[in-house]
Amino acid sequence: MKILITGSAGFIGFSIAHDLLKVGHTILGYDSINNYYDVKLKLERNKILKKFKKYNFVKGELENYKKVNNTVINFKPEIILHLAAQAGVRYSLIAPKKYLSSNINGTFNIIEAARHANVKHLLIASSSSVYGLSKKKKFKEIDKVDDQISIYAATKKSTESIAHAYSSLWKIPITMLRFFTVYGPWGRPDMAYFKFTQSIINQRKIDVYNNGHMFRDFTYIDDVVKSITLLLNKLPNNKIKKKSKNDSISSVAPFRIVNIGNQNKVLLKDFISTIEKALNMEAKKNFLPIQKGDVKETLSDSSLLYKITKYKPKINYVEGINRFIKWYKDYYQK
Ligand SMILES: NC(=O)c1ccc[n+]([C@@H]2O[C@H](COP(=O)([O-])OP(=O)(O)OC[C@H]3O[C@@H](n4cnc5c(N)ncnc54)[C@H](O)[C@@H]3O)[C@@H](O)[C@H]2O)c1
Repeated sequence: MKILITGSAGFIGFSIAHDLLKVGHTILGYDSINNYYDVKLKLERNKILKKFKKYNFVKGELENYKKVNNTVINFKPEIILHLAAQAGVRYSLIAPKKYLSSNINGTFNIIEAARHANVKHLLIASSSSVYGLSKKKKFKEIDKVDDQISIYAATKKSTESIAHAYSSLWKIPITMLRFFTVYGPWGRPDMAYFKFTQSIINQRKIDVYNNGHMFRDFTYIDDVVKSITLLLNKLPNNKIKKKSKNDSISSVAPFRIVNIGNQNKVLLKDFISTIEKALNMEAKKNFLPIQKGDVKETLSDSSLLYKITKYKPKINYVEGINRFIKWYKDYYQK
Protein backbone atom coordinates (compact mmCIF):
# COMPACT_ATOMS: atom_id res chain seq x y z
CA MET A 1 0.00 0.00 0.00
CA LYS A 2 1.04 3.61 -0.53
CA ILE A 3 0.93 5.41 2.80
CA LEU A 4 1.76 9.03 3.53
CA ILE A 5 2.98 9.45 7.11
CA THR A 6 3.31 12.93 8.55
CA GLY A 7 5.64 13.27 11.52
CA SER A 8 7.78 10.42 10.14
CA ALA A 9 10.89 11.74 11.87
CA GLY A 10 9.01 11.77 15.17
CA PHE A 11 8.78 8.98 17.72
CA ILE A 12 5.55 7.26 16.71
CA GLY A 13 5.83 8.16 13.00
CA PHE A 14 9.31 6.70 12.72
CA SER A 15 8.35 3.54 14.64
CA ILE A 16 5.35 2.72 12.47
CA ALA A 17 7.04 3.74 9.19
CA HIS A 18 9.91 1.38 10.03
CA ASP A 19 7.54 -1.52 10.67
CA LEU A 20 5.48 -0.90 7.54
CA LEU A 21 8.59 -0.62 5.37
CA LYS A 22 9.86 -3.93 6.73
CA VAL A 23 6.76 -5.67 5.37
CA GLY A 24 7.01 -4.01 1.97
CA HIS A 25 4.71 -0.96 2.02
CA THR A 26 5.62 2.19 0.10
CA ILE A 27 5.96 5.11 2.48
CA LEU A 28 6.32 8.82 1.95
CA GLY A 29 7.36 10.70 5.07
CA TYR A 30 6.53 14.38 5.62
CA ASP A 31 8.11 16.28 8.50
CA SER A 32 9.61 19.70 9.17
CA ILE A 33 12.21 18.18 11.53
CA ASN A 34 11.73 21.13 13.86
CA ASN A 35 13.91 21.76 16.91
CA TYR A 36 11.32 21.22 19.66
CA TYR A 37 13.69 18.50 20.86
CA ASP A 38 17.06 17.06 19.78
CA VAL A 39 17.19 17.35 15.98
CA LYS A 40 19.96 14.75 15.80
CA LEU A 41 17.59 12.09 17.11
CA LYS A 42 15.04 12.97 14.39
CA LEU A 43 17.71 12.91 11.69
CA GLU A 44 18.97 9.53 12.87
CA ARG A 45 15.48 8.10 12.78
CA ASN A 46 15.05 9.45 9.26
CA LYS A 47 18.41 8.01 8.21
CA ILE A 48 17.25 4.54 9.24
CA LEU A 49 14.08 4.92 7.15
CA LYS A 50 16.04 6.21 4.14
CA LYS A 51 17.84 2.87 3.92
CA PHE A 52 14.63 1.37 2.53
CA LYS A 53 14.12 1.70 -1.24
CA LYS A 54 10.41 2.18 -0.77
CA TYR A 55 10.86 5.22 1.49
CA ASN A 56 10.87 8.79 0.30
CA PHE A 57 10.91 11.92 2.35
CA VAL A 58 9.67 15.47 1.94
CA LYS A 59 10.86 18.08 4.40
CA GLY A 60 8.05 20.56 4.89
CA GLU A 61 5.75 22.38 7.27
CA LEU A 62 2.14 21.33 7.70
CA GLU A 63 1.24 25.01 7.51
CA ASN A 64 2.47 25.19 3.90
CA TYR A 65 -0.71 24.10 2.12
CA LYS A 66 0.83 24.25 -1.34
CA LYS A 67 3.59 21.87 -0.32
CA VAL A 68 1.22 19.55 1.55
CA ASN A 69 -1.17 19.44 -1.40
CA ASN A 70 1.55 18.94 -4.03
CA THR A 71 3.02 16.15 -1.93
CA VAL A 72 -0.35 14.41 -1.78
CA ILE A 73 -1.08 14.98 -5.50
CA ASN A 74 2.31 13.63 -6.58
CA PHE A 75 2.38 10.62 -4.26
CA LYS A 76 -1.31 9.62 -4.56
CA PRO A 77 -1.50 7.83 -1.19
CA GLU A 78 -4.23 5.30 -0.48
CA ILE A 79 -3.89 6.07 3.21
CA ILE A 80 -2.73 9.13 5.11
CA LEU A 81 -1.51 8.66 8.68
CA HIS A 82 -1.28 12.14 10.16
CA LEU A 83 0.95 12.13 13.24
CA ALA A 84 2.87 15.40 12.91
CA ALA A 85 1.90 17.87 15.60
CA GLN A 86 3.27 20.11 18.25
CA ALA A 87 3.14 17.66 21.15
CA GLY A 88 3.60 18.13 24.90
CA VAL A 89 1.25 19.55 27.53
CA ARG A 90 3.79 21.66 29.40
CA TYR A 91 5.25 23.46 26.39
CA SER A 92 1.71 24.52 25.43
CA LEU A 93 1.75 26.90 28.40
CA ILE A 94 4.86 28.57 27.00
CA ALA A 95 4.18 28.58 23.26
CA PRO A 96 0.42 28.17 22.71
CA LYS A 97 0.48 29.67 19.20
CA LYS A 98 2.68 26.85 17.92
CA TYR A 99 -0.12 24.46 18.88
CA LEU A 100 -2.74 26.47 17.07
CA SER A 101 -0.66 26.66 13.91
CA SER A 102 0.69 23.08 13.76
CA ASN A 103 -2.24 21.22 15.23
CA ILE A 104 -5.23 23.18 13.98
CA ASN A 105 -4.10 24.91 10.77
CA GLY A 106 -1.69 22.09 9.93
CA THR A 107 -4.26 19.35 10.46
CA PHE A 108 -6.83 21.30 8.48
CA ASN A 109 -4.40 21.39 5.54
CA ILE A 110 -3.95 17.62 5.69
CA ILE A 111 -7.70 17.01 5.79
CA GLU A 112 -8.29 19.42 2.90
CA ALA A 113 -5.58 17.76 0.79
CA ALA A 114 -6.97 14.32 1.66
CA ARG A 115 -10.42 15.39 0.48
CA HIS A 116 -9.17 16.44 -2.97
CA ALA A 117 -7.07 13.29 -3.30
CA ASN A 118 -9.95 10.94 -2.40
CA VAL A 119 -7.85 8.93 0.02
CA LYS A 120 -9.31 5.63 1.17
CA HIS A 121 -8.68 6.30 4.86
CA LEU A 122 -7.27 9.19 6.87
CA LEU A 123 -6.04 8.44 10.40
CA ILE A 124 -5.22 11.36 12.69
CA ALA A 125 -3.39 11.43 16.03
CA SER A 126 -5.39 12.74 18.97
CA SER A 127 -4.59 12.33 22.64
CA SER A 128 -5.88 11.05 25.97
CA SER A 129 -5.46 14.62 27.21
CA VAL A 130 -8.81 15.47 25.58
CA TYR A 131 -10.47 13.63 28.51
CA GLY A 132 -9.27 16.50 30.72
CA LEU A 133 -10.45 16.22 34.30
CA SER A 134 -12.87 13.40 33.56
CA LYS A 135 -14.10 11.73 36.75
CA LYS A 136 -14.69 8.43 34.95
CA LYS A 137 -12.67 5.44 36.15
CA LYS A 138 -11.87 4.42 32.58
CA PHE A 139 -12.03 6.78 29.63
CA LYS A 140 -14.34 5.74 26.81
CA GLU A 141 -14.53 7.25 23.34
CA ILE A 142 -18.28 7.83 23.72
CA ASP A 143 -17.81 9.91 26.90
CA LYS A 144 -18.69 13.56 26.56
CA VAL A 145 -15.40 15.42 26.74
CA ASP A 146 -15.67 19.15 26.97
CA ASP A 147 -13.34 20.14 29.77
CA GLN A 148 -9.81 20.16 28.38
CA ILE A 149 -7.38 21.93 30.69
CA SER A 150 -4.43 22.63 28.38
CA ILE A 151 -4.07 24.31 25.01
CA TYR A 152 -2.48 21.12 23.71
CA ALA A 153 -5.60 19.15 24.64
CA ALA A 154 -7.89 21.88 23.30
CA THR A 155 -6.16 21.80 19.90
CA LYS A 156 -6.48 18.02 19.76
CA LYS A 157 -10.19 18.20 20.62
CA SER A 158 -10.65 20.92 17.98
CA THR A 159 -9.09 18.75 15.29
CA GLU A 160 -11.50 15.97 16.22
CA SER A 161 -14.41 18.38 15.58
CA ILE A 162 -12.96 19.71 12.33
CA ALA A 163 -12.27 16.17 11.12
CA HIS A 164 -15.82 15.12 11.98
CA ALA A 165 -17.31 18.05 10.05
CA TYR A 166 -15.16 17.32 6.99
CA SER A 167 -15.92 13.63 7.17
CA SER A 168 -19.61 14.44 7.26
CA LEU A 169 -19.48 17.02 4.46
CA TRP A 170 -17.27 15.12 2.04
CA LYS A 171 -17.67 11.53 3.24
CA ILE A 172 -13.98 11.10 3.99
CA PRO A 173 -13.36 7.98 6.12
CA ILE A 174 -11.50 9.30 9.17
CA THR A 175 -10.28 7.53 12.31
CA MET A 176 -9.02 9.61 15.23
CA LEU A 177 -6.43 7.85 17.39
CA ARG A 178 -6.43 8.85 21.05
CA PHE A 179 -3.00 7.79 22.31
CA PHE A 180 -2.29 7.25 26.01
CA THR A 181 1.29 8.18 27.12
CA VAL A 182 3.34 6.33 24.54
CA TYR A 183 6.89 5.35 25.56
CA GLY A 184 9.74 3.15 24.41
CA PRO A 185 12.94 2.99 22.35
CA TRP A 186 13.53 5.99 20.07
CA GLY A 187 11.14 7.91 22.32
CA ARG A 188 10.72 11.62 22.97
CA PRO A 189 13.37 13.38 25.09
CA ASP A 190 10.78 15.90 26.38
CA MET A 191 8.74 13.18 28.09
CA ALA A 192 9.10 12.39 31.80
CA TYR A 193 10.42 8.81 31.54
CA PHE A 194 13.15 9.96 29.13
CA LYS A 195 14.13 12.94 31.30
CA PHE A 196 14.13 10.78 34.45
CA THR A 197 16.50 8.29 32.82
CA GLN A 198 18.80 11.03 31.54
CA SER A 199 18.92 12.81 34.92
CA ILE A 200 19.40 9.68 37.03
CA ILE A 201 22.32 8.55 34.85
CA ASN A 202 23.88 12.02 35.06
CA GLN A 203 23.18 12.22 38.81
CA ARG A 204 20.96 15.26 38.44
CA LYS A 205 17.76 15.81 40.42
CA ILE A 206 14.48 14.78 38.82
CA ASP A 207 11.32 16.90 39.10
CA VAL A 208 8.48 14.83 40.53
CA TYR A 209 5.09 16.52 40.34
CA ASN A 210 2.27 16.13 42.87
CA ASN A 211 4.63 14.06 45.09
CA GLY A 212 4.49 11.28 42.52
CA HIS A 213 0.72 10.84 43.13
CA MET A 214 -0.25 10.82 39.50
CA PHE A 215 -1.44 7.91 37.44
CA ARG A 216 -0.72 7.32 33.79
CA ASP A 217 -1.79 4.61 31.40
CA PHE A 218 1.65 4.00 29.86
CA THR A 219 1.42 2.39 26.43
CA TYR A 220 4.44 0.70 24.91
CA ILE A 221 5.39 1.77 21.38
CA ASP A 222 5.17 -1.74 19.85
CA ASP A 223 1.58 -2.03 21.04
CA VAL A 224 0.80 1.35 19.49
CA VAL A 225 2.43 0.39 16.18
CA LYS A 226 0.54 -2.90 16.08
CA SER A 227 -2.78 -1.21 16.91
CA ILE A 228 -2.39 1.47 14.22
CA THR A 229 -1.29 -1.11 11.64
CA LEU A 230 -4.44 -3.15 12.27
CA LEU A 231 -6.63 -0.04 12.07
CA LEU A 232 -5.26 1.10 8.68
CA ASN A 233 -7.71 -1.14 6.83
CA LYS A 234 -10.61 -0.79 9.25
CA LEU A 235 -12.61 1.92 7.55
CA PRO A 236 -15.29 3.49 9.72
CA ASN A 237 -18.67 2.64 8.25
CA ASN A 238 -21.55 4.68 9.63
CA LYS A 239 -24.07 2.88 7.42
CA ILE A 240 -24.10 -0.32 9.48
CA LYS A 241 -27.56 -0.92 10.90
CA LYS A 242 -26.66 -2.21 14.35
CA LYS A 243 -23.87 -0.31 15.96
CA SER A 244 -22.51 -1.78 19.15
CA LYS A 245 -23.07 0.02 22.45
CA ASN A 246 -19.57 1.38 22.90
CA ASP A 247 -18.80 2.21 19.30
CA SER A 248 -17.94 5.88 18.80
CA ILE A 249 -18.85 5.73 15.13
CA SER A 250 -20.67 8.88 14.05
CA SER A 251 -24.31 8.65 13.02
CA VAL A 252 -23.76 11.12 10.18
CA ALA A 253 -20.22 10.50 8.95
CA PRO A 254 -17.70 7.73 8.28
CA PHE A 255 -15.85 8.88 11.36
CA ARG A 256 -14.70 7.10 14.47
CA ILE A 257 -12.54 7.77 17.54
CA VAL A 258 -10.43 4.93 18.96
CA ASN A 259 -8.48 4.85 22.23
CA ILE A 260 -5.05 3.28 22.05
CA GLY A 261 -4.09 2.62 25.64
CA ASN A 262 -2.70 -0.21 27.74
CA GLN A 263 -5.66 -0.22 30.20
CA ASN A 264 -3.45 -0.18 33.28
CA LYS A 265 -2.89 2.83 35.42
CA VAL A 266 0.54 3.11 36.96
CA LEU A 267 1.46 5.35 39.87
CA LEU A 268 4.23 7.75 38.85
CA LYS A 269 6.20 6.80 41.99
CA ASP A 270 6.19 3.12 40.95
CA PHE A 271 7.20 4.06 37.44
CA ILE A 272 10.20 5.97 38.81
CA SER A 273 11.18 3.05 41.09
CA THR A 274 11.13 0.74 38.08
CA ILE A 275 13.48 3.07 36.19
CA GLU A 276 15.76 3.18 39.28
CA LYS A 277 15.81 -0.62 39.45
CA ALA A 278 16.49 -1.00 35.75
CA LEU A 279 19.41 1.44 36.04
CA ASN A 280 20.49 0.13 39.42
CA MET A 281 20.77 3.75 40.57
CA GLU A 282 18.77 5.89 42.95
CA ALA A 283 17.09 9.12 41.82
CA LYS A 284 17.53 12.40 43.67
CA LYS A 285 14.01 13.79 43.77
CA ASN A 286 12.76 17.33 43.70
CA PHE A 287 9.09 17.19 44.77
CA LEU A 288 6.92 19.86 43.16
CA PRO A 289 3.21 20.69 43.04
CA ILE A 290 1.15 19.51 40.10
CA GLN A 291 1.80 21.60 37.00
CA LYS A 292 -0.89 23.72 35.43
CA GLY A 293 -2.54 21.83 32.56
CA ASP A 294 -1.54 18.39 33.84
CA VAL A 295 -4.25 15.84 34.62
CA LYS A 296 -3.88 13.56 37.66
CA GLU A 297 -5.03 10.34 36.04
CA THR A 298 -5.47 8.71 32.69
CA LEU A 299 -6.84 5.24 32.04
CA SER A 300 -7.98 3.90 28.73
CA ASP A 301 -10.92 1.65 28.05
CA SER A 302 -9.57 -0.01 24.91
CA SER A 303 -12.48 -2.37 24.34
CA LEU A 304 -13.39 -0.62 21.09
CA LEU A 305 -9.85 -1.15 19.77
CA TYR A 306 -10.22 -4.83 20.66
CA LYS A 307 -13.64 -5.06 19.04
CA ILE A 308 -12.35 -3.65 15.77
CA THR A 309 -8.91 -5.29 15.62
CA LYS A 310 -9.03 -8.21 18.08
CA TYR A 311 -5.81 -6.77 19.52
CA LYS A 312 -5.12 -5.76 23.10
CA PRO A 313 -1.95 -3.85 24.08
CA LYS A 314 0.09 -6.36 26.07
CA ILE A 315 3.48 -5.06 27.17
CA ASN A 316 3.44 -4.24 30.88
CA TYR A 317 5.34 -1.22 32.11
CA VAL A 318 8.16 -3.11 33.86
CA GLU A 319 9.00 -4.98 30.66
CA GLY A 320 8.58 -1.77 28.61
CA ILE A 321 10.87 0.30 30.84
CA ASN A 322 13.54 -2.38 30.77
CA ARG A 323 13.42 -2.42 26.97
CA PHE A 324 13.63 1.38 26.90
CA ILE A 325 16.61 1.50 29.27
CA LYS A 326 18.41 -1.10 27.18
CA TRP A 327 17.89 1.00 24.04
CA TYR A 328 18.88 4.20 25.88
CA LYS A 329 22.18 2.72 27.07
CA ASP A 330 23.03 1.29 23.64
CA TYR A 331 22.09 4.52 21.88
CA TYR A 332 23.87 7.02 24.10
CA GLN A 333 26.93 4.91 24.79
CA LYS A 334 27.72 4.07 21.20
N1 LIG B 1 3.95 10.17 22.43
C1 LIG B 1 2.83 10.27 23.15
O1 LIG B 1 2.79 9.88 24.32
C2 LIG B 1 1.57 10.84 22.56
C3 LIG B 1 0.40 10.81 23.35
C4 LIG B 1 -0.77 11.35 22.83
C5 LIG B 1 -0.79 11.87 21.54
N2 LIG B 1 0.37 11.90 20.79
C6 LIG B 1 0.29 12.46 19.44
O2 LIG B 1 0.86 11.53 18.53
C7 LIG B 1 1.52 12.22 17.47
C8 LIG B 1 2.96 11.75 17.35
O3 LIG B 1 3.62 12.02 18.59
P1 LIG B 1 5.14 11.73 18.84
O4 LIG B 1 5.28 11.32 20.26
O5 LIG B 1 5.67 10.87 17.76
O6 LIG B 1 5.73 13.22 18.70
P2 LIG B 1 7.07 13.76 18.02
O7 LIG B 1 7.21 15.17 18.47
O8 LIG B 1 8.19 12.81 18.28
O9 LIG B 1 6.73 13.73 16.47
C9 LIG B 1 6.04 14.75 15.79
C10 LIG B 1 6.80 15.08 14.52
O10 LIG B 1 6.05 16.09 13.83
C11 LIG B 1 6.91 17.06 13.33
N3 LIG B 1 6.19 18.33 13.27
C12 LIG B 1 5.71 19.04 14.32
N4 LIG B 1 5.09 20.16 13.90
C13 LIG B 1 5.19 20.14 12.54
C14 LIG B 1 4.73 21.02 11.52
N5 LIG B 1 4.06 22.14 11.83
N6 LIG B 1 4.97 20.70 10.22
C15 LIG B 1 5.63 19.54 9.91
N7 LIG B 1 6.10 18.67 10.84
C16 LIG B 1 5.86 18.99 12.12
C17 LIG B 1 8.08 17.12 14.29
O11 LIG B 1 9.28 17.57 13.67
C18 LIG B 1 8.20 15.68 14.78
O12 LIG B 1 9.18 14.95 14.09
C19 LIG B 1 1.35 13.70 17.77
O13 LIG B 1 0.23 14.16 17.06
C20 LIG B 1 1.09 13.73 19.26
O14 LIG B 1 0.37 14.88 19.64
C21 LIG B 1 1.54 11.38 21.27
